[in-house]
This record gives sequence, C-alpha cells and structure tokens, in this order.
Amino acid sequence: MRHLLATRDLSYDNALAILDTAQEMATVSDRSIKKLPTLRGQTVVNLFFEDSTRTRTSFEAAAKRLSADVLNFAVKTSSVSKGESLKDTVQTLEAIGGDAIVMRHWASGAAQQLANFGWSSSAVINAGDGTHEHPTQALLDAFTLRNRLYGTEATGKDLNGLHVVIVGDILHSRVARSNVWLLHTLGAKVSLSGPPTLMPVGVNTWPVDVNYDLDALLAQRVDAVMMLRVQAERMAGAFFPSPAEYTRGWGLTNDRYQTIAGTDTLIMHPGPMNRGLEISAAAADSAQNTALEQVANGVSVRMAVLYLLLAGQLGQ
Ligand code: CP
Repeated sequence: MRHLLATRDLSYDNALAILDTAQEMATVSDRSIKKLPTLRGQTVVNLFFEDSTRTRTSFEAAAKRLSADVLNFAVKTSSVSKGESLKDTVQTLEAIGGDAIVMRHWASGAAQQLANFGWSSSAVINAGDGTHEHPTQALLDAFTLRNRLYGTEATGKDLNGLHVVIVGDILHSRVARSNVWLLHTLGAKVSLSGPPTLMPVGVNTWPVDVNYDLDALLAQRVDAVMMLRVQAERMAGAFFPSPAEYTRGWGLTNDRYQTIAGTDTLIMHPGPMNRGLEISAAAADSAQNTALEQVANGVSVRMAVLYLLLAGQLGQ
C-alpha cells in the first residue's frame, strides 16, 4: 500500500498494523525527547486547501517527531490564486523535494485523483476530501476507543462487539463515512442518528442501523456516542427549521448528557465543537468527553501512517 486515501478499502490487517504501530509511537510522545531518527532526510508536504487546526498541526508534529523535514504550503498565498492546477502545484512541490503529500481538499475524490492519475510520485495521505473521507480521523478515533477499552493490552485487538452511535450531520461528514467503514472492518456495530434531511441518499446500503430517535438509541447499551459538527459552511440551503430544533432532536443537551453521565459511555467529537448546538458545555467539558485525547492520539496515529507508508511496510 503506497497511499492512504480512504478507510473503505483499508484491509483489516493494515488497519491493525497502523493501530499497533501507533501504540509504539505513543511511547515516543511520553518521552522527554520526543524524537525518532526514522524519517531523517525525507520531506513531508502539508497541502491544505481547506482550513484545519488539529489535522495540519498534528501531521506537522508527527513528521517532526520522526525527524522528517516539513513544508507547510499556504494555499491562500500561493500561485493557486493565479489559477495553477492541483497537478502543477503538486509536481512543483515534489521538484522541491516532497516525499509525502498530506492533502486536504474541498473536492471529494481529490486525493484519489492525485494518487491514481499519475499526478504525483509521492505517498499521498488524504487529510480530508470534501464530504468523502478523512481516514486518519477514523484511525485516531479507533485508537482512542481501543485504548479506553484495553489500555496497555490493546495491541493486536480490534473493536469487535462495540456499539458506536454517530450523531448529527451525516450528509456532509467525511468523518462519519471514514468511521462507518473502519468501525465495520474492526467488528463494531454502528448506529446513525440525525435529521432525515442530513442522512445521505443510499445510507441503507451502508453497514449501519439508522434510528432517528436519539433518546431511544441512548437508552440502549452504547460504548461511544460520536457527536458530529454541524457543517454550516457546506449547506447551501436550510436542512433543519432552526438551530434550537436541531439541538432538541440531536444535540447532546444537558438533559441528554445526564442520562449517560457517570456511565461507561464515551462522548467523542472530532472537533471543532459547536458548543450549544450539537453539544452542551457540560457534556463538552465532562471527563467522559475524549475530544482532547483524540487530538493527542492523532499525533501517534499520524506518526504511524507516515512511518509505514514512507518505509513501505504495509501490505496491499
Ligand atoms: N477533526 C479535524 O479534522 O479537525 P481540523 O479541521 O481542525 O483539522
């Protein structure tokens, strides 16, 4: 495997290899000197056509912890504004020495085009493409779940038997799609809940249960409830009557949070959080919310992905 483009086609063995390698990488982050010489002499290019806080900075931290050089390409001040194409931009960055391209793009399928149309000779890592996929987010979510479940005994284990509920704006969410495929591959049961207007066409073909009644779902045994950000920037029209009505139906409000507070149910959020819309401040700030743990685990998972791709240690 040369690229990481999606979790839909990520094999069980490669998913476990990434999670197990991330487990080893996490020990580096616990040291006073957080560095390995593994990727010395290699260059990782961060090419972000959409804004990011977590993904971009954690890829940079991951590459630096492996001693790679990092080029942070600022799309907004680049010759992209003069009309330079994606292909020419990438080939220019490779001429400067890029070995891996970490790309976030507003177009679904952009990473596949880069990798499969012969536009790039580098390892391509999809850091989020439109509403399609965000594979490293799903891997860090799985890593977080596995660590919470198995602690230091996590290596080699999958998520068989877990029940994860993904809530909210499924339609626009690449995080939801990547999580659905990866959780399914790792043996977890996935339920989706959200307004009918924010469920994708064809969701009935996905390996999930759909239940529009979030309270009924939370009354079941749930290992994790993953709250999604309402992606207002991708909504051309109105998908729900008002923010208050969205929150009443599908927000993790204080009342709903009280029904799971103190239980083993984890609250997850990929960030950034819309406090007061999809999640209340009480739920967001609670010890059950793993959002910051997810961010920290993202560095280990991205170290693992960079290492395995650049060292060529993943199977097909
Ligand atoms: N979860 C996530 O992708 O966050 P950023 O947009 O800040 O990278």
